[in-house]
Amino acid sequence: MQIINSIVHMQALAIAPERGGRRITFVPTMGFLHEGHASLLREGRTRGDVLVLSIFVNPIQFGKNEDLDRYPRDMERDCQLADACGVDIVFIPTVAEMYPQGFQTGVTVRDIALPLCGASRPGHFDGVATVVAKLFNIVRPDVALFGCKDYQQLAVIRTMTADLNMPVEIVGMPIVREADGVAMSSRNAYLSASERQSALCLIQAIKRARGLYAAGERSTSVLIREARAVIEQETAAVVDYVECRNGETLHESDLADGGTLLALAVKIGQTRLIDNTVFGEEL
Ligand code: PAJ
Repeated sequence: MQIINSIVHMQALAIAPERGGRRITFVPTMGFLHEGHASLLREGRTRGDVLVLSIFVNPIQFGKNEDLDRYPRDMERDCQLADACGVDIVFIPTVAEMYPQGFQTGVTVRDIALPLCGASRPGHFDGVATVVAKLFNIVRPDVALFGCKDYQQLAVIRTMTADLNMPVEIVGMPIVREADGVAMSSRNAYLSASERQSALCLIQAIKRARGLYAAGERSTSVLIREARAVIEQETAAVVDYVECRNGETLHESDLADGGTLLALAVKIGQTRLIDNTVFGEEL
């Protein structure tokens, strides 16, 4: 496994003749890897010849009062996990090289980036789309894998690659959960033992809504109300949003069907957690 820090070096390997016709698969991350990331890497391994993992805590996708400075990091452990997943190249660029003085270009995806996390975190998806576009130009992947855990992020990336005709196939991967159902996230590391217990309310809310849907409930306002009520029972939890949206357009609708997304963002203490489910899909 090769570790590359230089953009020029990474790009040179990705461009012919060094590339030699090999298929590059790519998993972009911010590090502090867990089984969710590993599932993307293992799938990526089967889909191409050269598997590239990037680790970059992207400053421009964090808001002013967000957790950029304390975002968890552990390069040594990340590299061990990457190696075990069959990664060929770990690309770890520096902030200075990614955003040199004079950097002034951004990618904005409009409608699909506006609701949900886009409303709570203004500018966040501009930062995500911009860094992913940059990474695609550096790594030149044939295939890139993203998790459904960040459902709206995946929708934004799909929209960007289609709108800008980027020659990369986007693969969405299922949410990997802990044994008790809590979605794996690097940010779970922030939670104290009691907060970790409180974090169960997200999956409980999802299960409540899925149970009602399975029993025939189709009113999104009822599904939302019931999911919200589960979270509000947890004193340590503060709802940021609980919403039902069309799983493709992210438009609101009054009636749920198999393609409807239930998305939640909840603050547990200082930590903001997100989770989601699509009613017609397995949990
Ligand atoms: P990060 O949060 O590190 O996540 C990297 C990838 O892992 C994303 O595609 C995310 O959806 C996926 N992932 C995280 N937790 C998961 C889980 N429990 N199950 C399945 N997949 C999971 O998302 C980012 O980084 C950044 O925004 C990035 C795309 C790298 C741009 O900076």
